[in-house]
Amino acid sequence: MKPEILVTGGAGFIGSHTVVELFLAGYEPVILDNFVNSRRDIPQRIGKILGREVRVIEGDCTDERAMRDLFAREKSLAGVIHFAAYKSVSESVREPLKYHRNNIGSLLVLLKLMEEFGVKNLVFSSSCTVYGAPEVLPVTENSPVRTAESTYGYTKQVCEQIIQDQAAAEKGLKAILLRYFNPIGAHPSGLIGELPLGKPENLVPYITQTAAGLRDQLTIFGDDYPTPDGTAIRDYIHVVDLARAHVAALRRLESGRGENCEIFNAGTGRGASVKELVEAFERVTGVKCPHIQGARRPGDIASIWADATQVEQVLGWKAQLTMEDALRDAWNWQVMLGK
Ligand code: WQD
Repeated sequence: MKPEILVTGGAGFIGSHTVVELFLAGYEPVILDNFVNSRRDIPQRIGKILGREVRVIEGDCTDERAMRDLFAREKSLAGVIHFAAYKSVSESVREPLKYHRNNIGSLLVLLKLMEEFGVKNLVFSSSCTVYGAPEVLPVTENSPVRTAESTYGYTKQVCEQIIQDQAAAEKGLKAILLRYFNPIGAHPSGLIGELPLGKPENLVPYITQTAAGLRDQLTIFGDDYPTPDGTAIRDYIHVVDLARAHVAALRRLESGRGENCEIFNAGTGRGASVKELVEAFERVTGVKCPHIQGARRPGDIASIWADATQVEQVLGWKAQLTMEDALRDAWNWQVMLGK
């Protein structure tokens, strides 16, 4: 019997890629998704990649009654990976209550039921946004958690604290918080990838949609940052590498080693500027991405990239794929979407 892992938000961008890697690593993933921010055909696409169907439960993590029924039915859960959350930085500022209720409410329900049903292992989808605008780079897991730049980032900080409190209360919970940097790319099959609803907020889907002619041009937000070329720097990690980090985190939890709650930066340890990313995209795909220079985007920070020492030393995980691999896979996904 393969260890069964509940993957909330498992039809989403990072969730779907993690479901693939969980299966390949010998787990039995069960997708829980309300399909508010993901397409209903994603589980079937995952099935095509794996050559077998994946179990899907449609549901909302904030619905305590439905979630209790789920935990009562799924008696052999070996762990939970909690992706389900809203993640738009700008929308979170416009709709704070929606973000507090969903992102924090879903975690509270999940932790209560994990305690009630004795499910111990949790991997939580956190974010480098908890660091705010770091003064020292690269950021380590001990870098200060600073004032969040958005409601989204604040909900991630609150969720981290809730998990740490529950783990410290010795209720049986063993958790790993993975602080994602900038996930980009898609599965090399071109069957799953990033699916922004409406106009993309994030850089790479905007680049690929512009290159595909769906957008007139990319605006590079700001060229007066204190960086070598003036554009902002981020740590771009291939989504398949990030998915594999979740498998490594589960293995660590199953080992029983370490504290009840551990935190890891899920990044490559390398920074790249917006201009470098656009140039790399055009170089690896041979496709132009028309772009203009614009003003800074409110709320953006100048630079952040990870110190990935801990995640490599403790989880034995290190990013294997390059930014170029991610851009090539992102473009392949965009082309496949258009077919
Ligand atoms: C990257 C850079 C923009 C669009 C994201 C997620 C956040 C977190 C971290 C997981 C910035 C610039 C963008 C465009 C541009 N992930 N840009 N033109 O803001 O670092 O945050 O990753 O939790 O949830 O939002 O990513 O892709 O939006 O921006 O110049 O049209 O690209 O200014 O410098 P960001 P992003």
